[in-house]
Amino acid sequence: MQTIPVRLAHAEYDIIVGPDLLQNLEEHLKRAGLSGPFLVISQPRIFKAAGQFLKKRFPLALIPDGERAKSMTTVTRLLDRMAALNMTRQSTVIAFGGGVVGDVAGFVAAIYMRGVSVVQAPTTLLAQVDSSIGGKTGINFRSVKNLVGAFHQPRLVVSDSTLLRTLSDREYASGLYEALKYGVIRDAGLFESFVDGIQPLLTREPDAVGRLVSRCAAIKAEVVAADERESNLRRILNFGHTVGHALEAAGNFRRLKHGEAVGYGMIAAARIGLALNRVSQSDAERIESAIALIGRLPSLEGIKLRPALHALQHDKKIRDGAVHFVLPRGIGCVEITPDVPLELVRETVKALIHESKNRR
Ligand SMILES: NC(=O)c1ccc[n+]([C@@H]2O[C@H](COP(=O)([O-])OP(=O)(O)OC[C@H]3O[C@@H](n4cnc5c(N)ncnc54)[C@H](O)[C@@H]3O)[C@@H](O)[C@H]2O)c1
Ligand SMILES: [Zn+2]
Repeated sequence: MQTIPVRLAHAEYDIIVGPDLLQNLEEHLKRAGLSGPFLVISQPRIFKAAGQFLKKRFPLALIPDGERAKSMTTVTRLLDRMAALNMTRQSTVIAFGGGVVGDVAGFVAAIYMRGVSVVQAPTTLLAQVDSSIGGKTGINFRSVKNLVGAFHQPRLVVSDSTLLRTLSDREYASGLYEALKYGVIRDAGLFESFVDGIQPLLTREPDAVGRLVSRCAAIKAEVVAADERESNLRRILNFGHTVGHALEAAGNFRRLKHGEAVGYGMIAAARIGLALNRVSQSDAERIESAIALIGRLPSLEGIKLRPALHALQHDKKIRDGAVHFVLPRGIGCVEITPDVPLELVRETVKALIHESKNRR
């Protein structure tokens, strides 16, 4: 078991990573000083695939499957259930699921009695390397993703590598793209070991996955600690997310998984960095090759350029015909550039869509 301490101005917690950690969840809760009543929040599909062993150990609230669960209706129902269970300020919510469960459960924990403890027990690779850490919680509102939310840090993150066995190949790969991001933005060693050790990662060899999750979690923890509320440094975590979000939104958040969109977004950032002479050709190519090692990204067929650019505008990333971008400088180092010409972004996204059509 690896322990990664997160030290923030007003909060401290541990991220623990390893196989079979949830078998002893009660012990980990106790060590973190957490007391009941507890409420496990999960989704039916996840609980059926990976959560049976938690049955009867804790009260359980199931929210609908999928992204649609990030709604005010779910929040109201959960608050109802918490009140019915007489949960007090001392009680603890346990989020057992991917980013969707983590975001909703974190949000109800943030607002119930002005805040109760939340433990994140992420069940997707994406949630283990990213969404369970950092305290961003929220729901979608009026069809806008994450429009309503709060910062609410977890009291403990338990990343159990055993849970990832039941993930589909596509969901698992989606997490690998997001994990690779950490190598590019901050850790050349991580990037190298990702590329050299891709086989055991693809076959989900528990030690290899555990090492990857620990390293990514440590980087996210360090960046979040330096910039809790995303004013500056934390923005480097958005590498691959400018074009990524645009493609995700243009596909109505259904065509692409988040990590896949980030995969495309990182290719776009590498190409834009190269066009602007910020990164060498060989490093830009190494980034693209590493993304390809994870597997073929799904086709962008049906995703249109115009809505993608519209989404960029909506993200407020465009100002005076220029786009705010995180660009690679090399492997392990990025820079935030406020003045990437919109035209270059347009051409890059257009080329990505075109290439993926011709690849069929
Ligand atoms: N708070 C943050 O900082 C942050 C960061 C990134 C993303 N997010 C949010 O996270 C969400 C995406 O998270 P995600 O990619 O984890 O998706 P998700 O939570 O929807 O889970 C993906 C799929 O995997 C299935 N699944 C999950 N765990 C499983 C398991 N162990 N075995 C079998 N199937 C399993 C789920 O049923 C679902 O179909 C989005 O809503 C996004 O906005 C939040
Ligand atoms: Zn992401």
